Amino acid sequence: MRLDKFIAKSTELSKHDVLHSIHQGEVSVNGVVVTKEAQQVHENNQILLKGVRLQPRPFRYLLMHKPAGTICSNIDEAYPSLFNGLEIDKCSELHIAGRLDADTTGLVLITDDGRWSFDITRPSKACHKVYRVCLSQALSGERAKEISEQFEHGIMLQGESQLTLPATLQVITPTEVLLTLTEGKFHQVKRMFAAMGNRVVALHREQIGAVYLDVEVGHWRYLTHQEVQSFLSI
Ligand code: URA
Repeated sequence: MRLDKFIAKSTELSKHDVLHSIHQGEVSVNGVVVTKEAQQVHENNQILLKGVRLQPRPFRYLLMHKPAGTICSNIDEAYPSLFNGLEIDKCSELHIAGRLDADTTGLVLITDDGRWSFDITRPSKACHKVYRVCLSQALSGERAKEISEQFEHGIMLQGESQLTLPATLQVITPTEVLLTLTEGKFHQVKRMFAAMGNRVVALHREQIGAVYLDVEVGHWRYLTHQEVQSFLSI
C-alpha cells in the first residue's frame, strides 16, 4: 500500500494534511524518514508520525441495496453516487466489488480491502452472482431450454474474443428469470439477452457468493465476520 494511503487509513488527517506531514519529514518507516508519498509500505512496517506509531484501521466490509438511478462511483456524475446513502467516515477510501449499471438495483458489496474485492470479481475464483431479470419478450418452454443450453455452453458477445463462462438460467415465469454468472463483463446480462433477441427491462442482483440481499432499498449494513470469510474459501 502507498504510504499516503496508509496514513490516511490510520489517522483522521485529510489528504492535504497527510501530504504535508510526509513532505515535512514527520513520517518514518522502520526508522528511516520518508518524504515520498508513493513509497510502498506494509502494515507490519513500523510507521511513525511525529514519533507516534500508527496502527491501520481494520478493513471495512458492507453491503448495500442499490436504488435505481444511482451510480457505482465515489462521486456524482450523470446520476448521484450510491455513496451518498452511506453515512460513514472516509467514504472516499471505499470501492465497490462488482459494479451495477445506473438502472440496475440490488446487492452491492463495498470495501476498502482491495485483495478481498479482487477475489470476488476475478472470474477464475468463480464467485456466483445471481441476477433476477425481467424480459420484454415471454420465453416459451422450448425457447427457454435453448437459451439455457447456450448460456451453459457460453456465447460470444459482440466485441469479445472469448465465450462467456458457463451461466445458469432458471425460469420463474415466462418473462422473469434468474441468471447466475461467475464473471462481470460490461453490461453482461443485458448483452447476453440481446444476443438471444430479447431485451432486459429490469435487472436486480440478489446474491453474491453466500451473501444475500436482506436490507431495504437504499439501506446498508456491515457484513458479518462469517460473510467476509466466506469469500476467502471460494
Ligand atoms: N449485467 C448488466 O447488464 N448490468 C448490470 O448492472 C449487471 C450485470
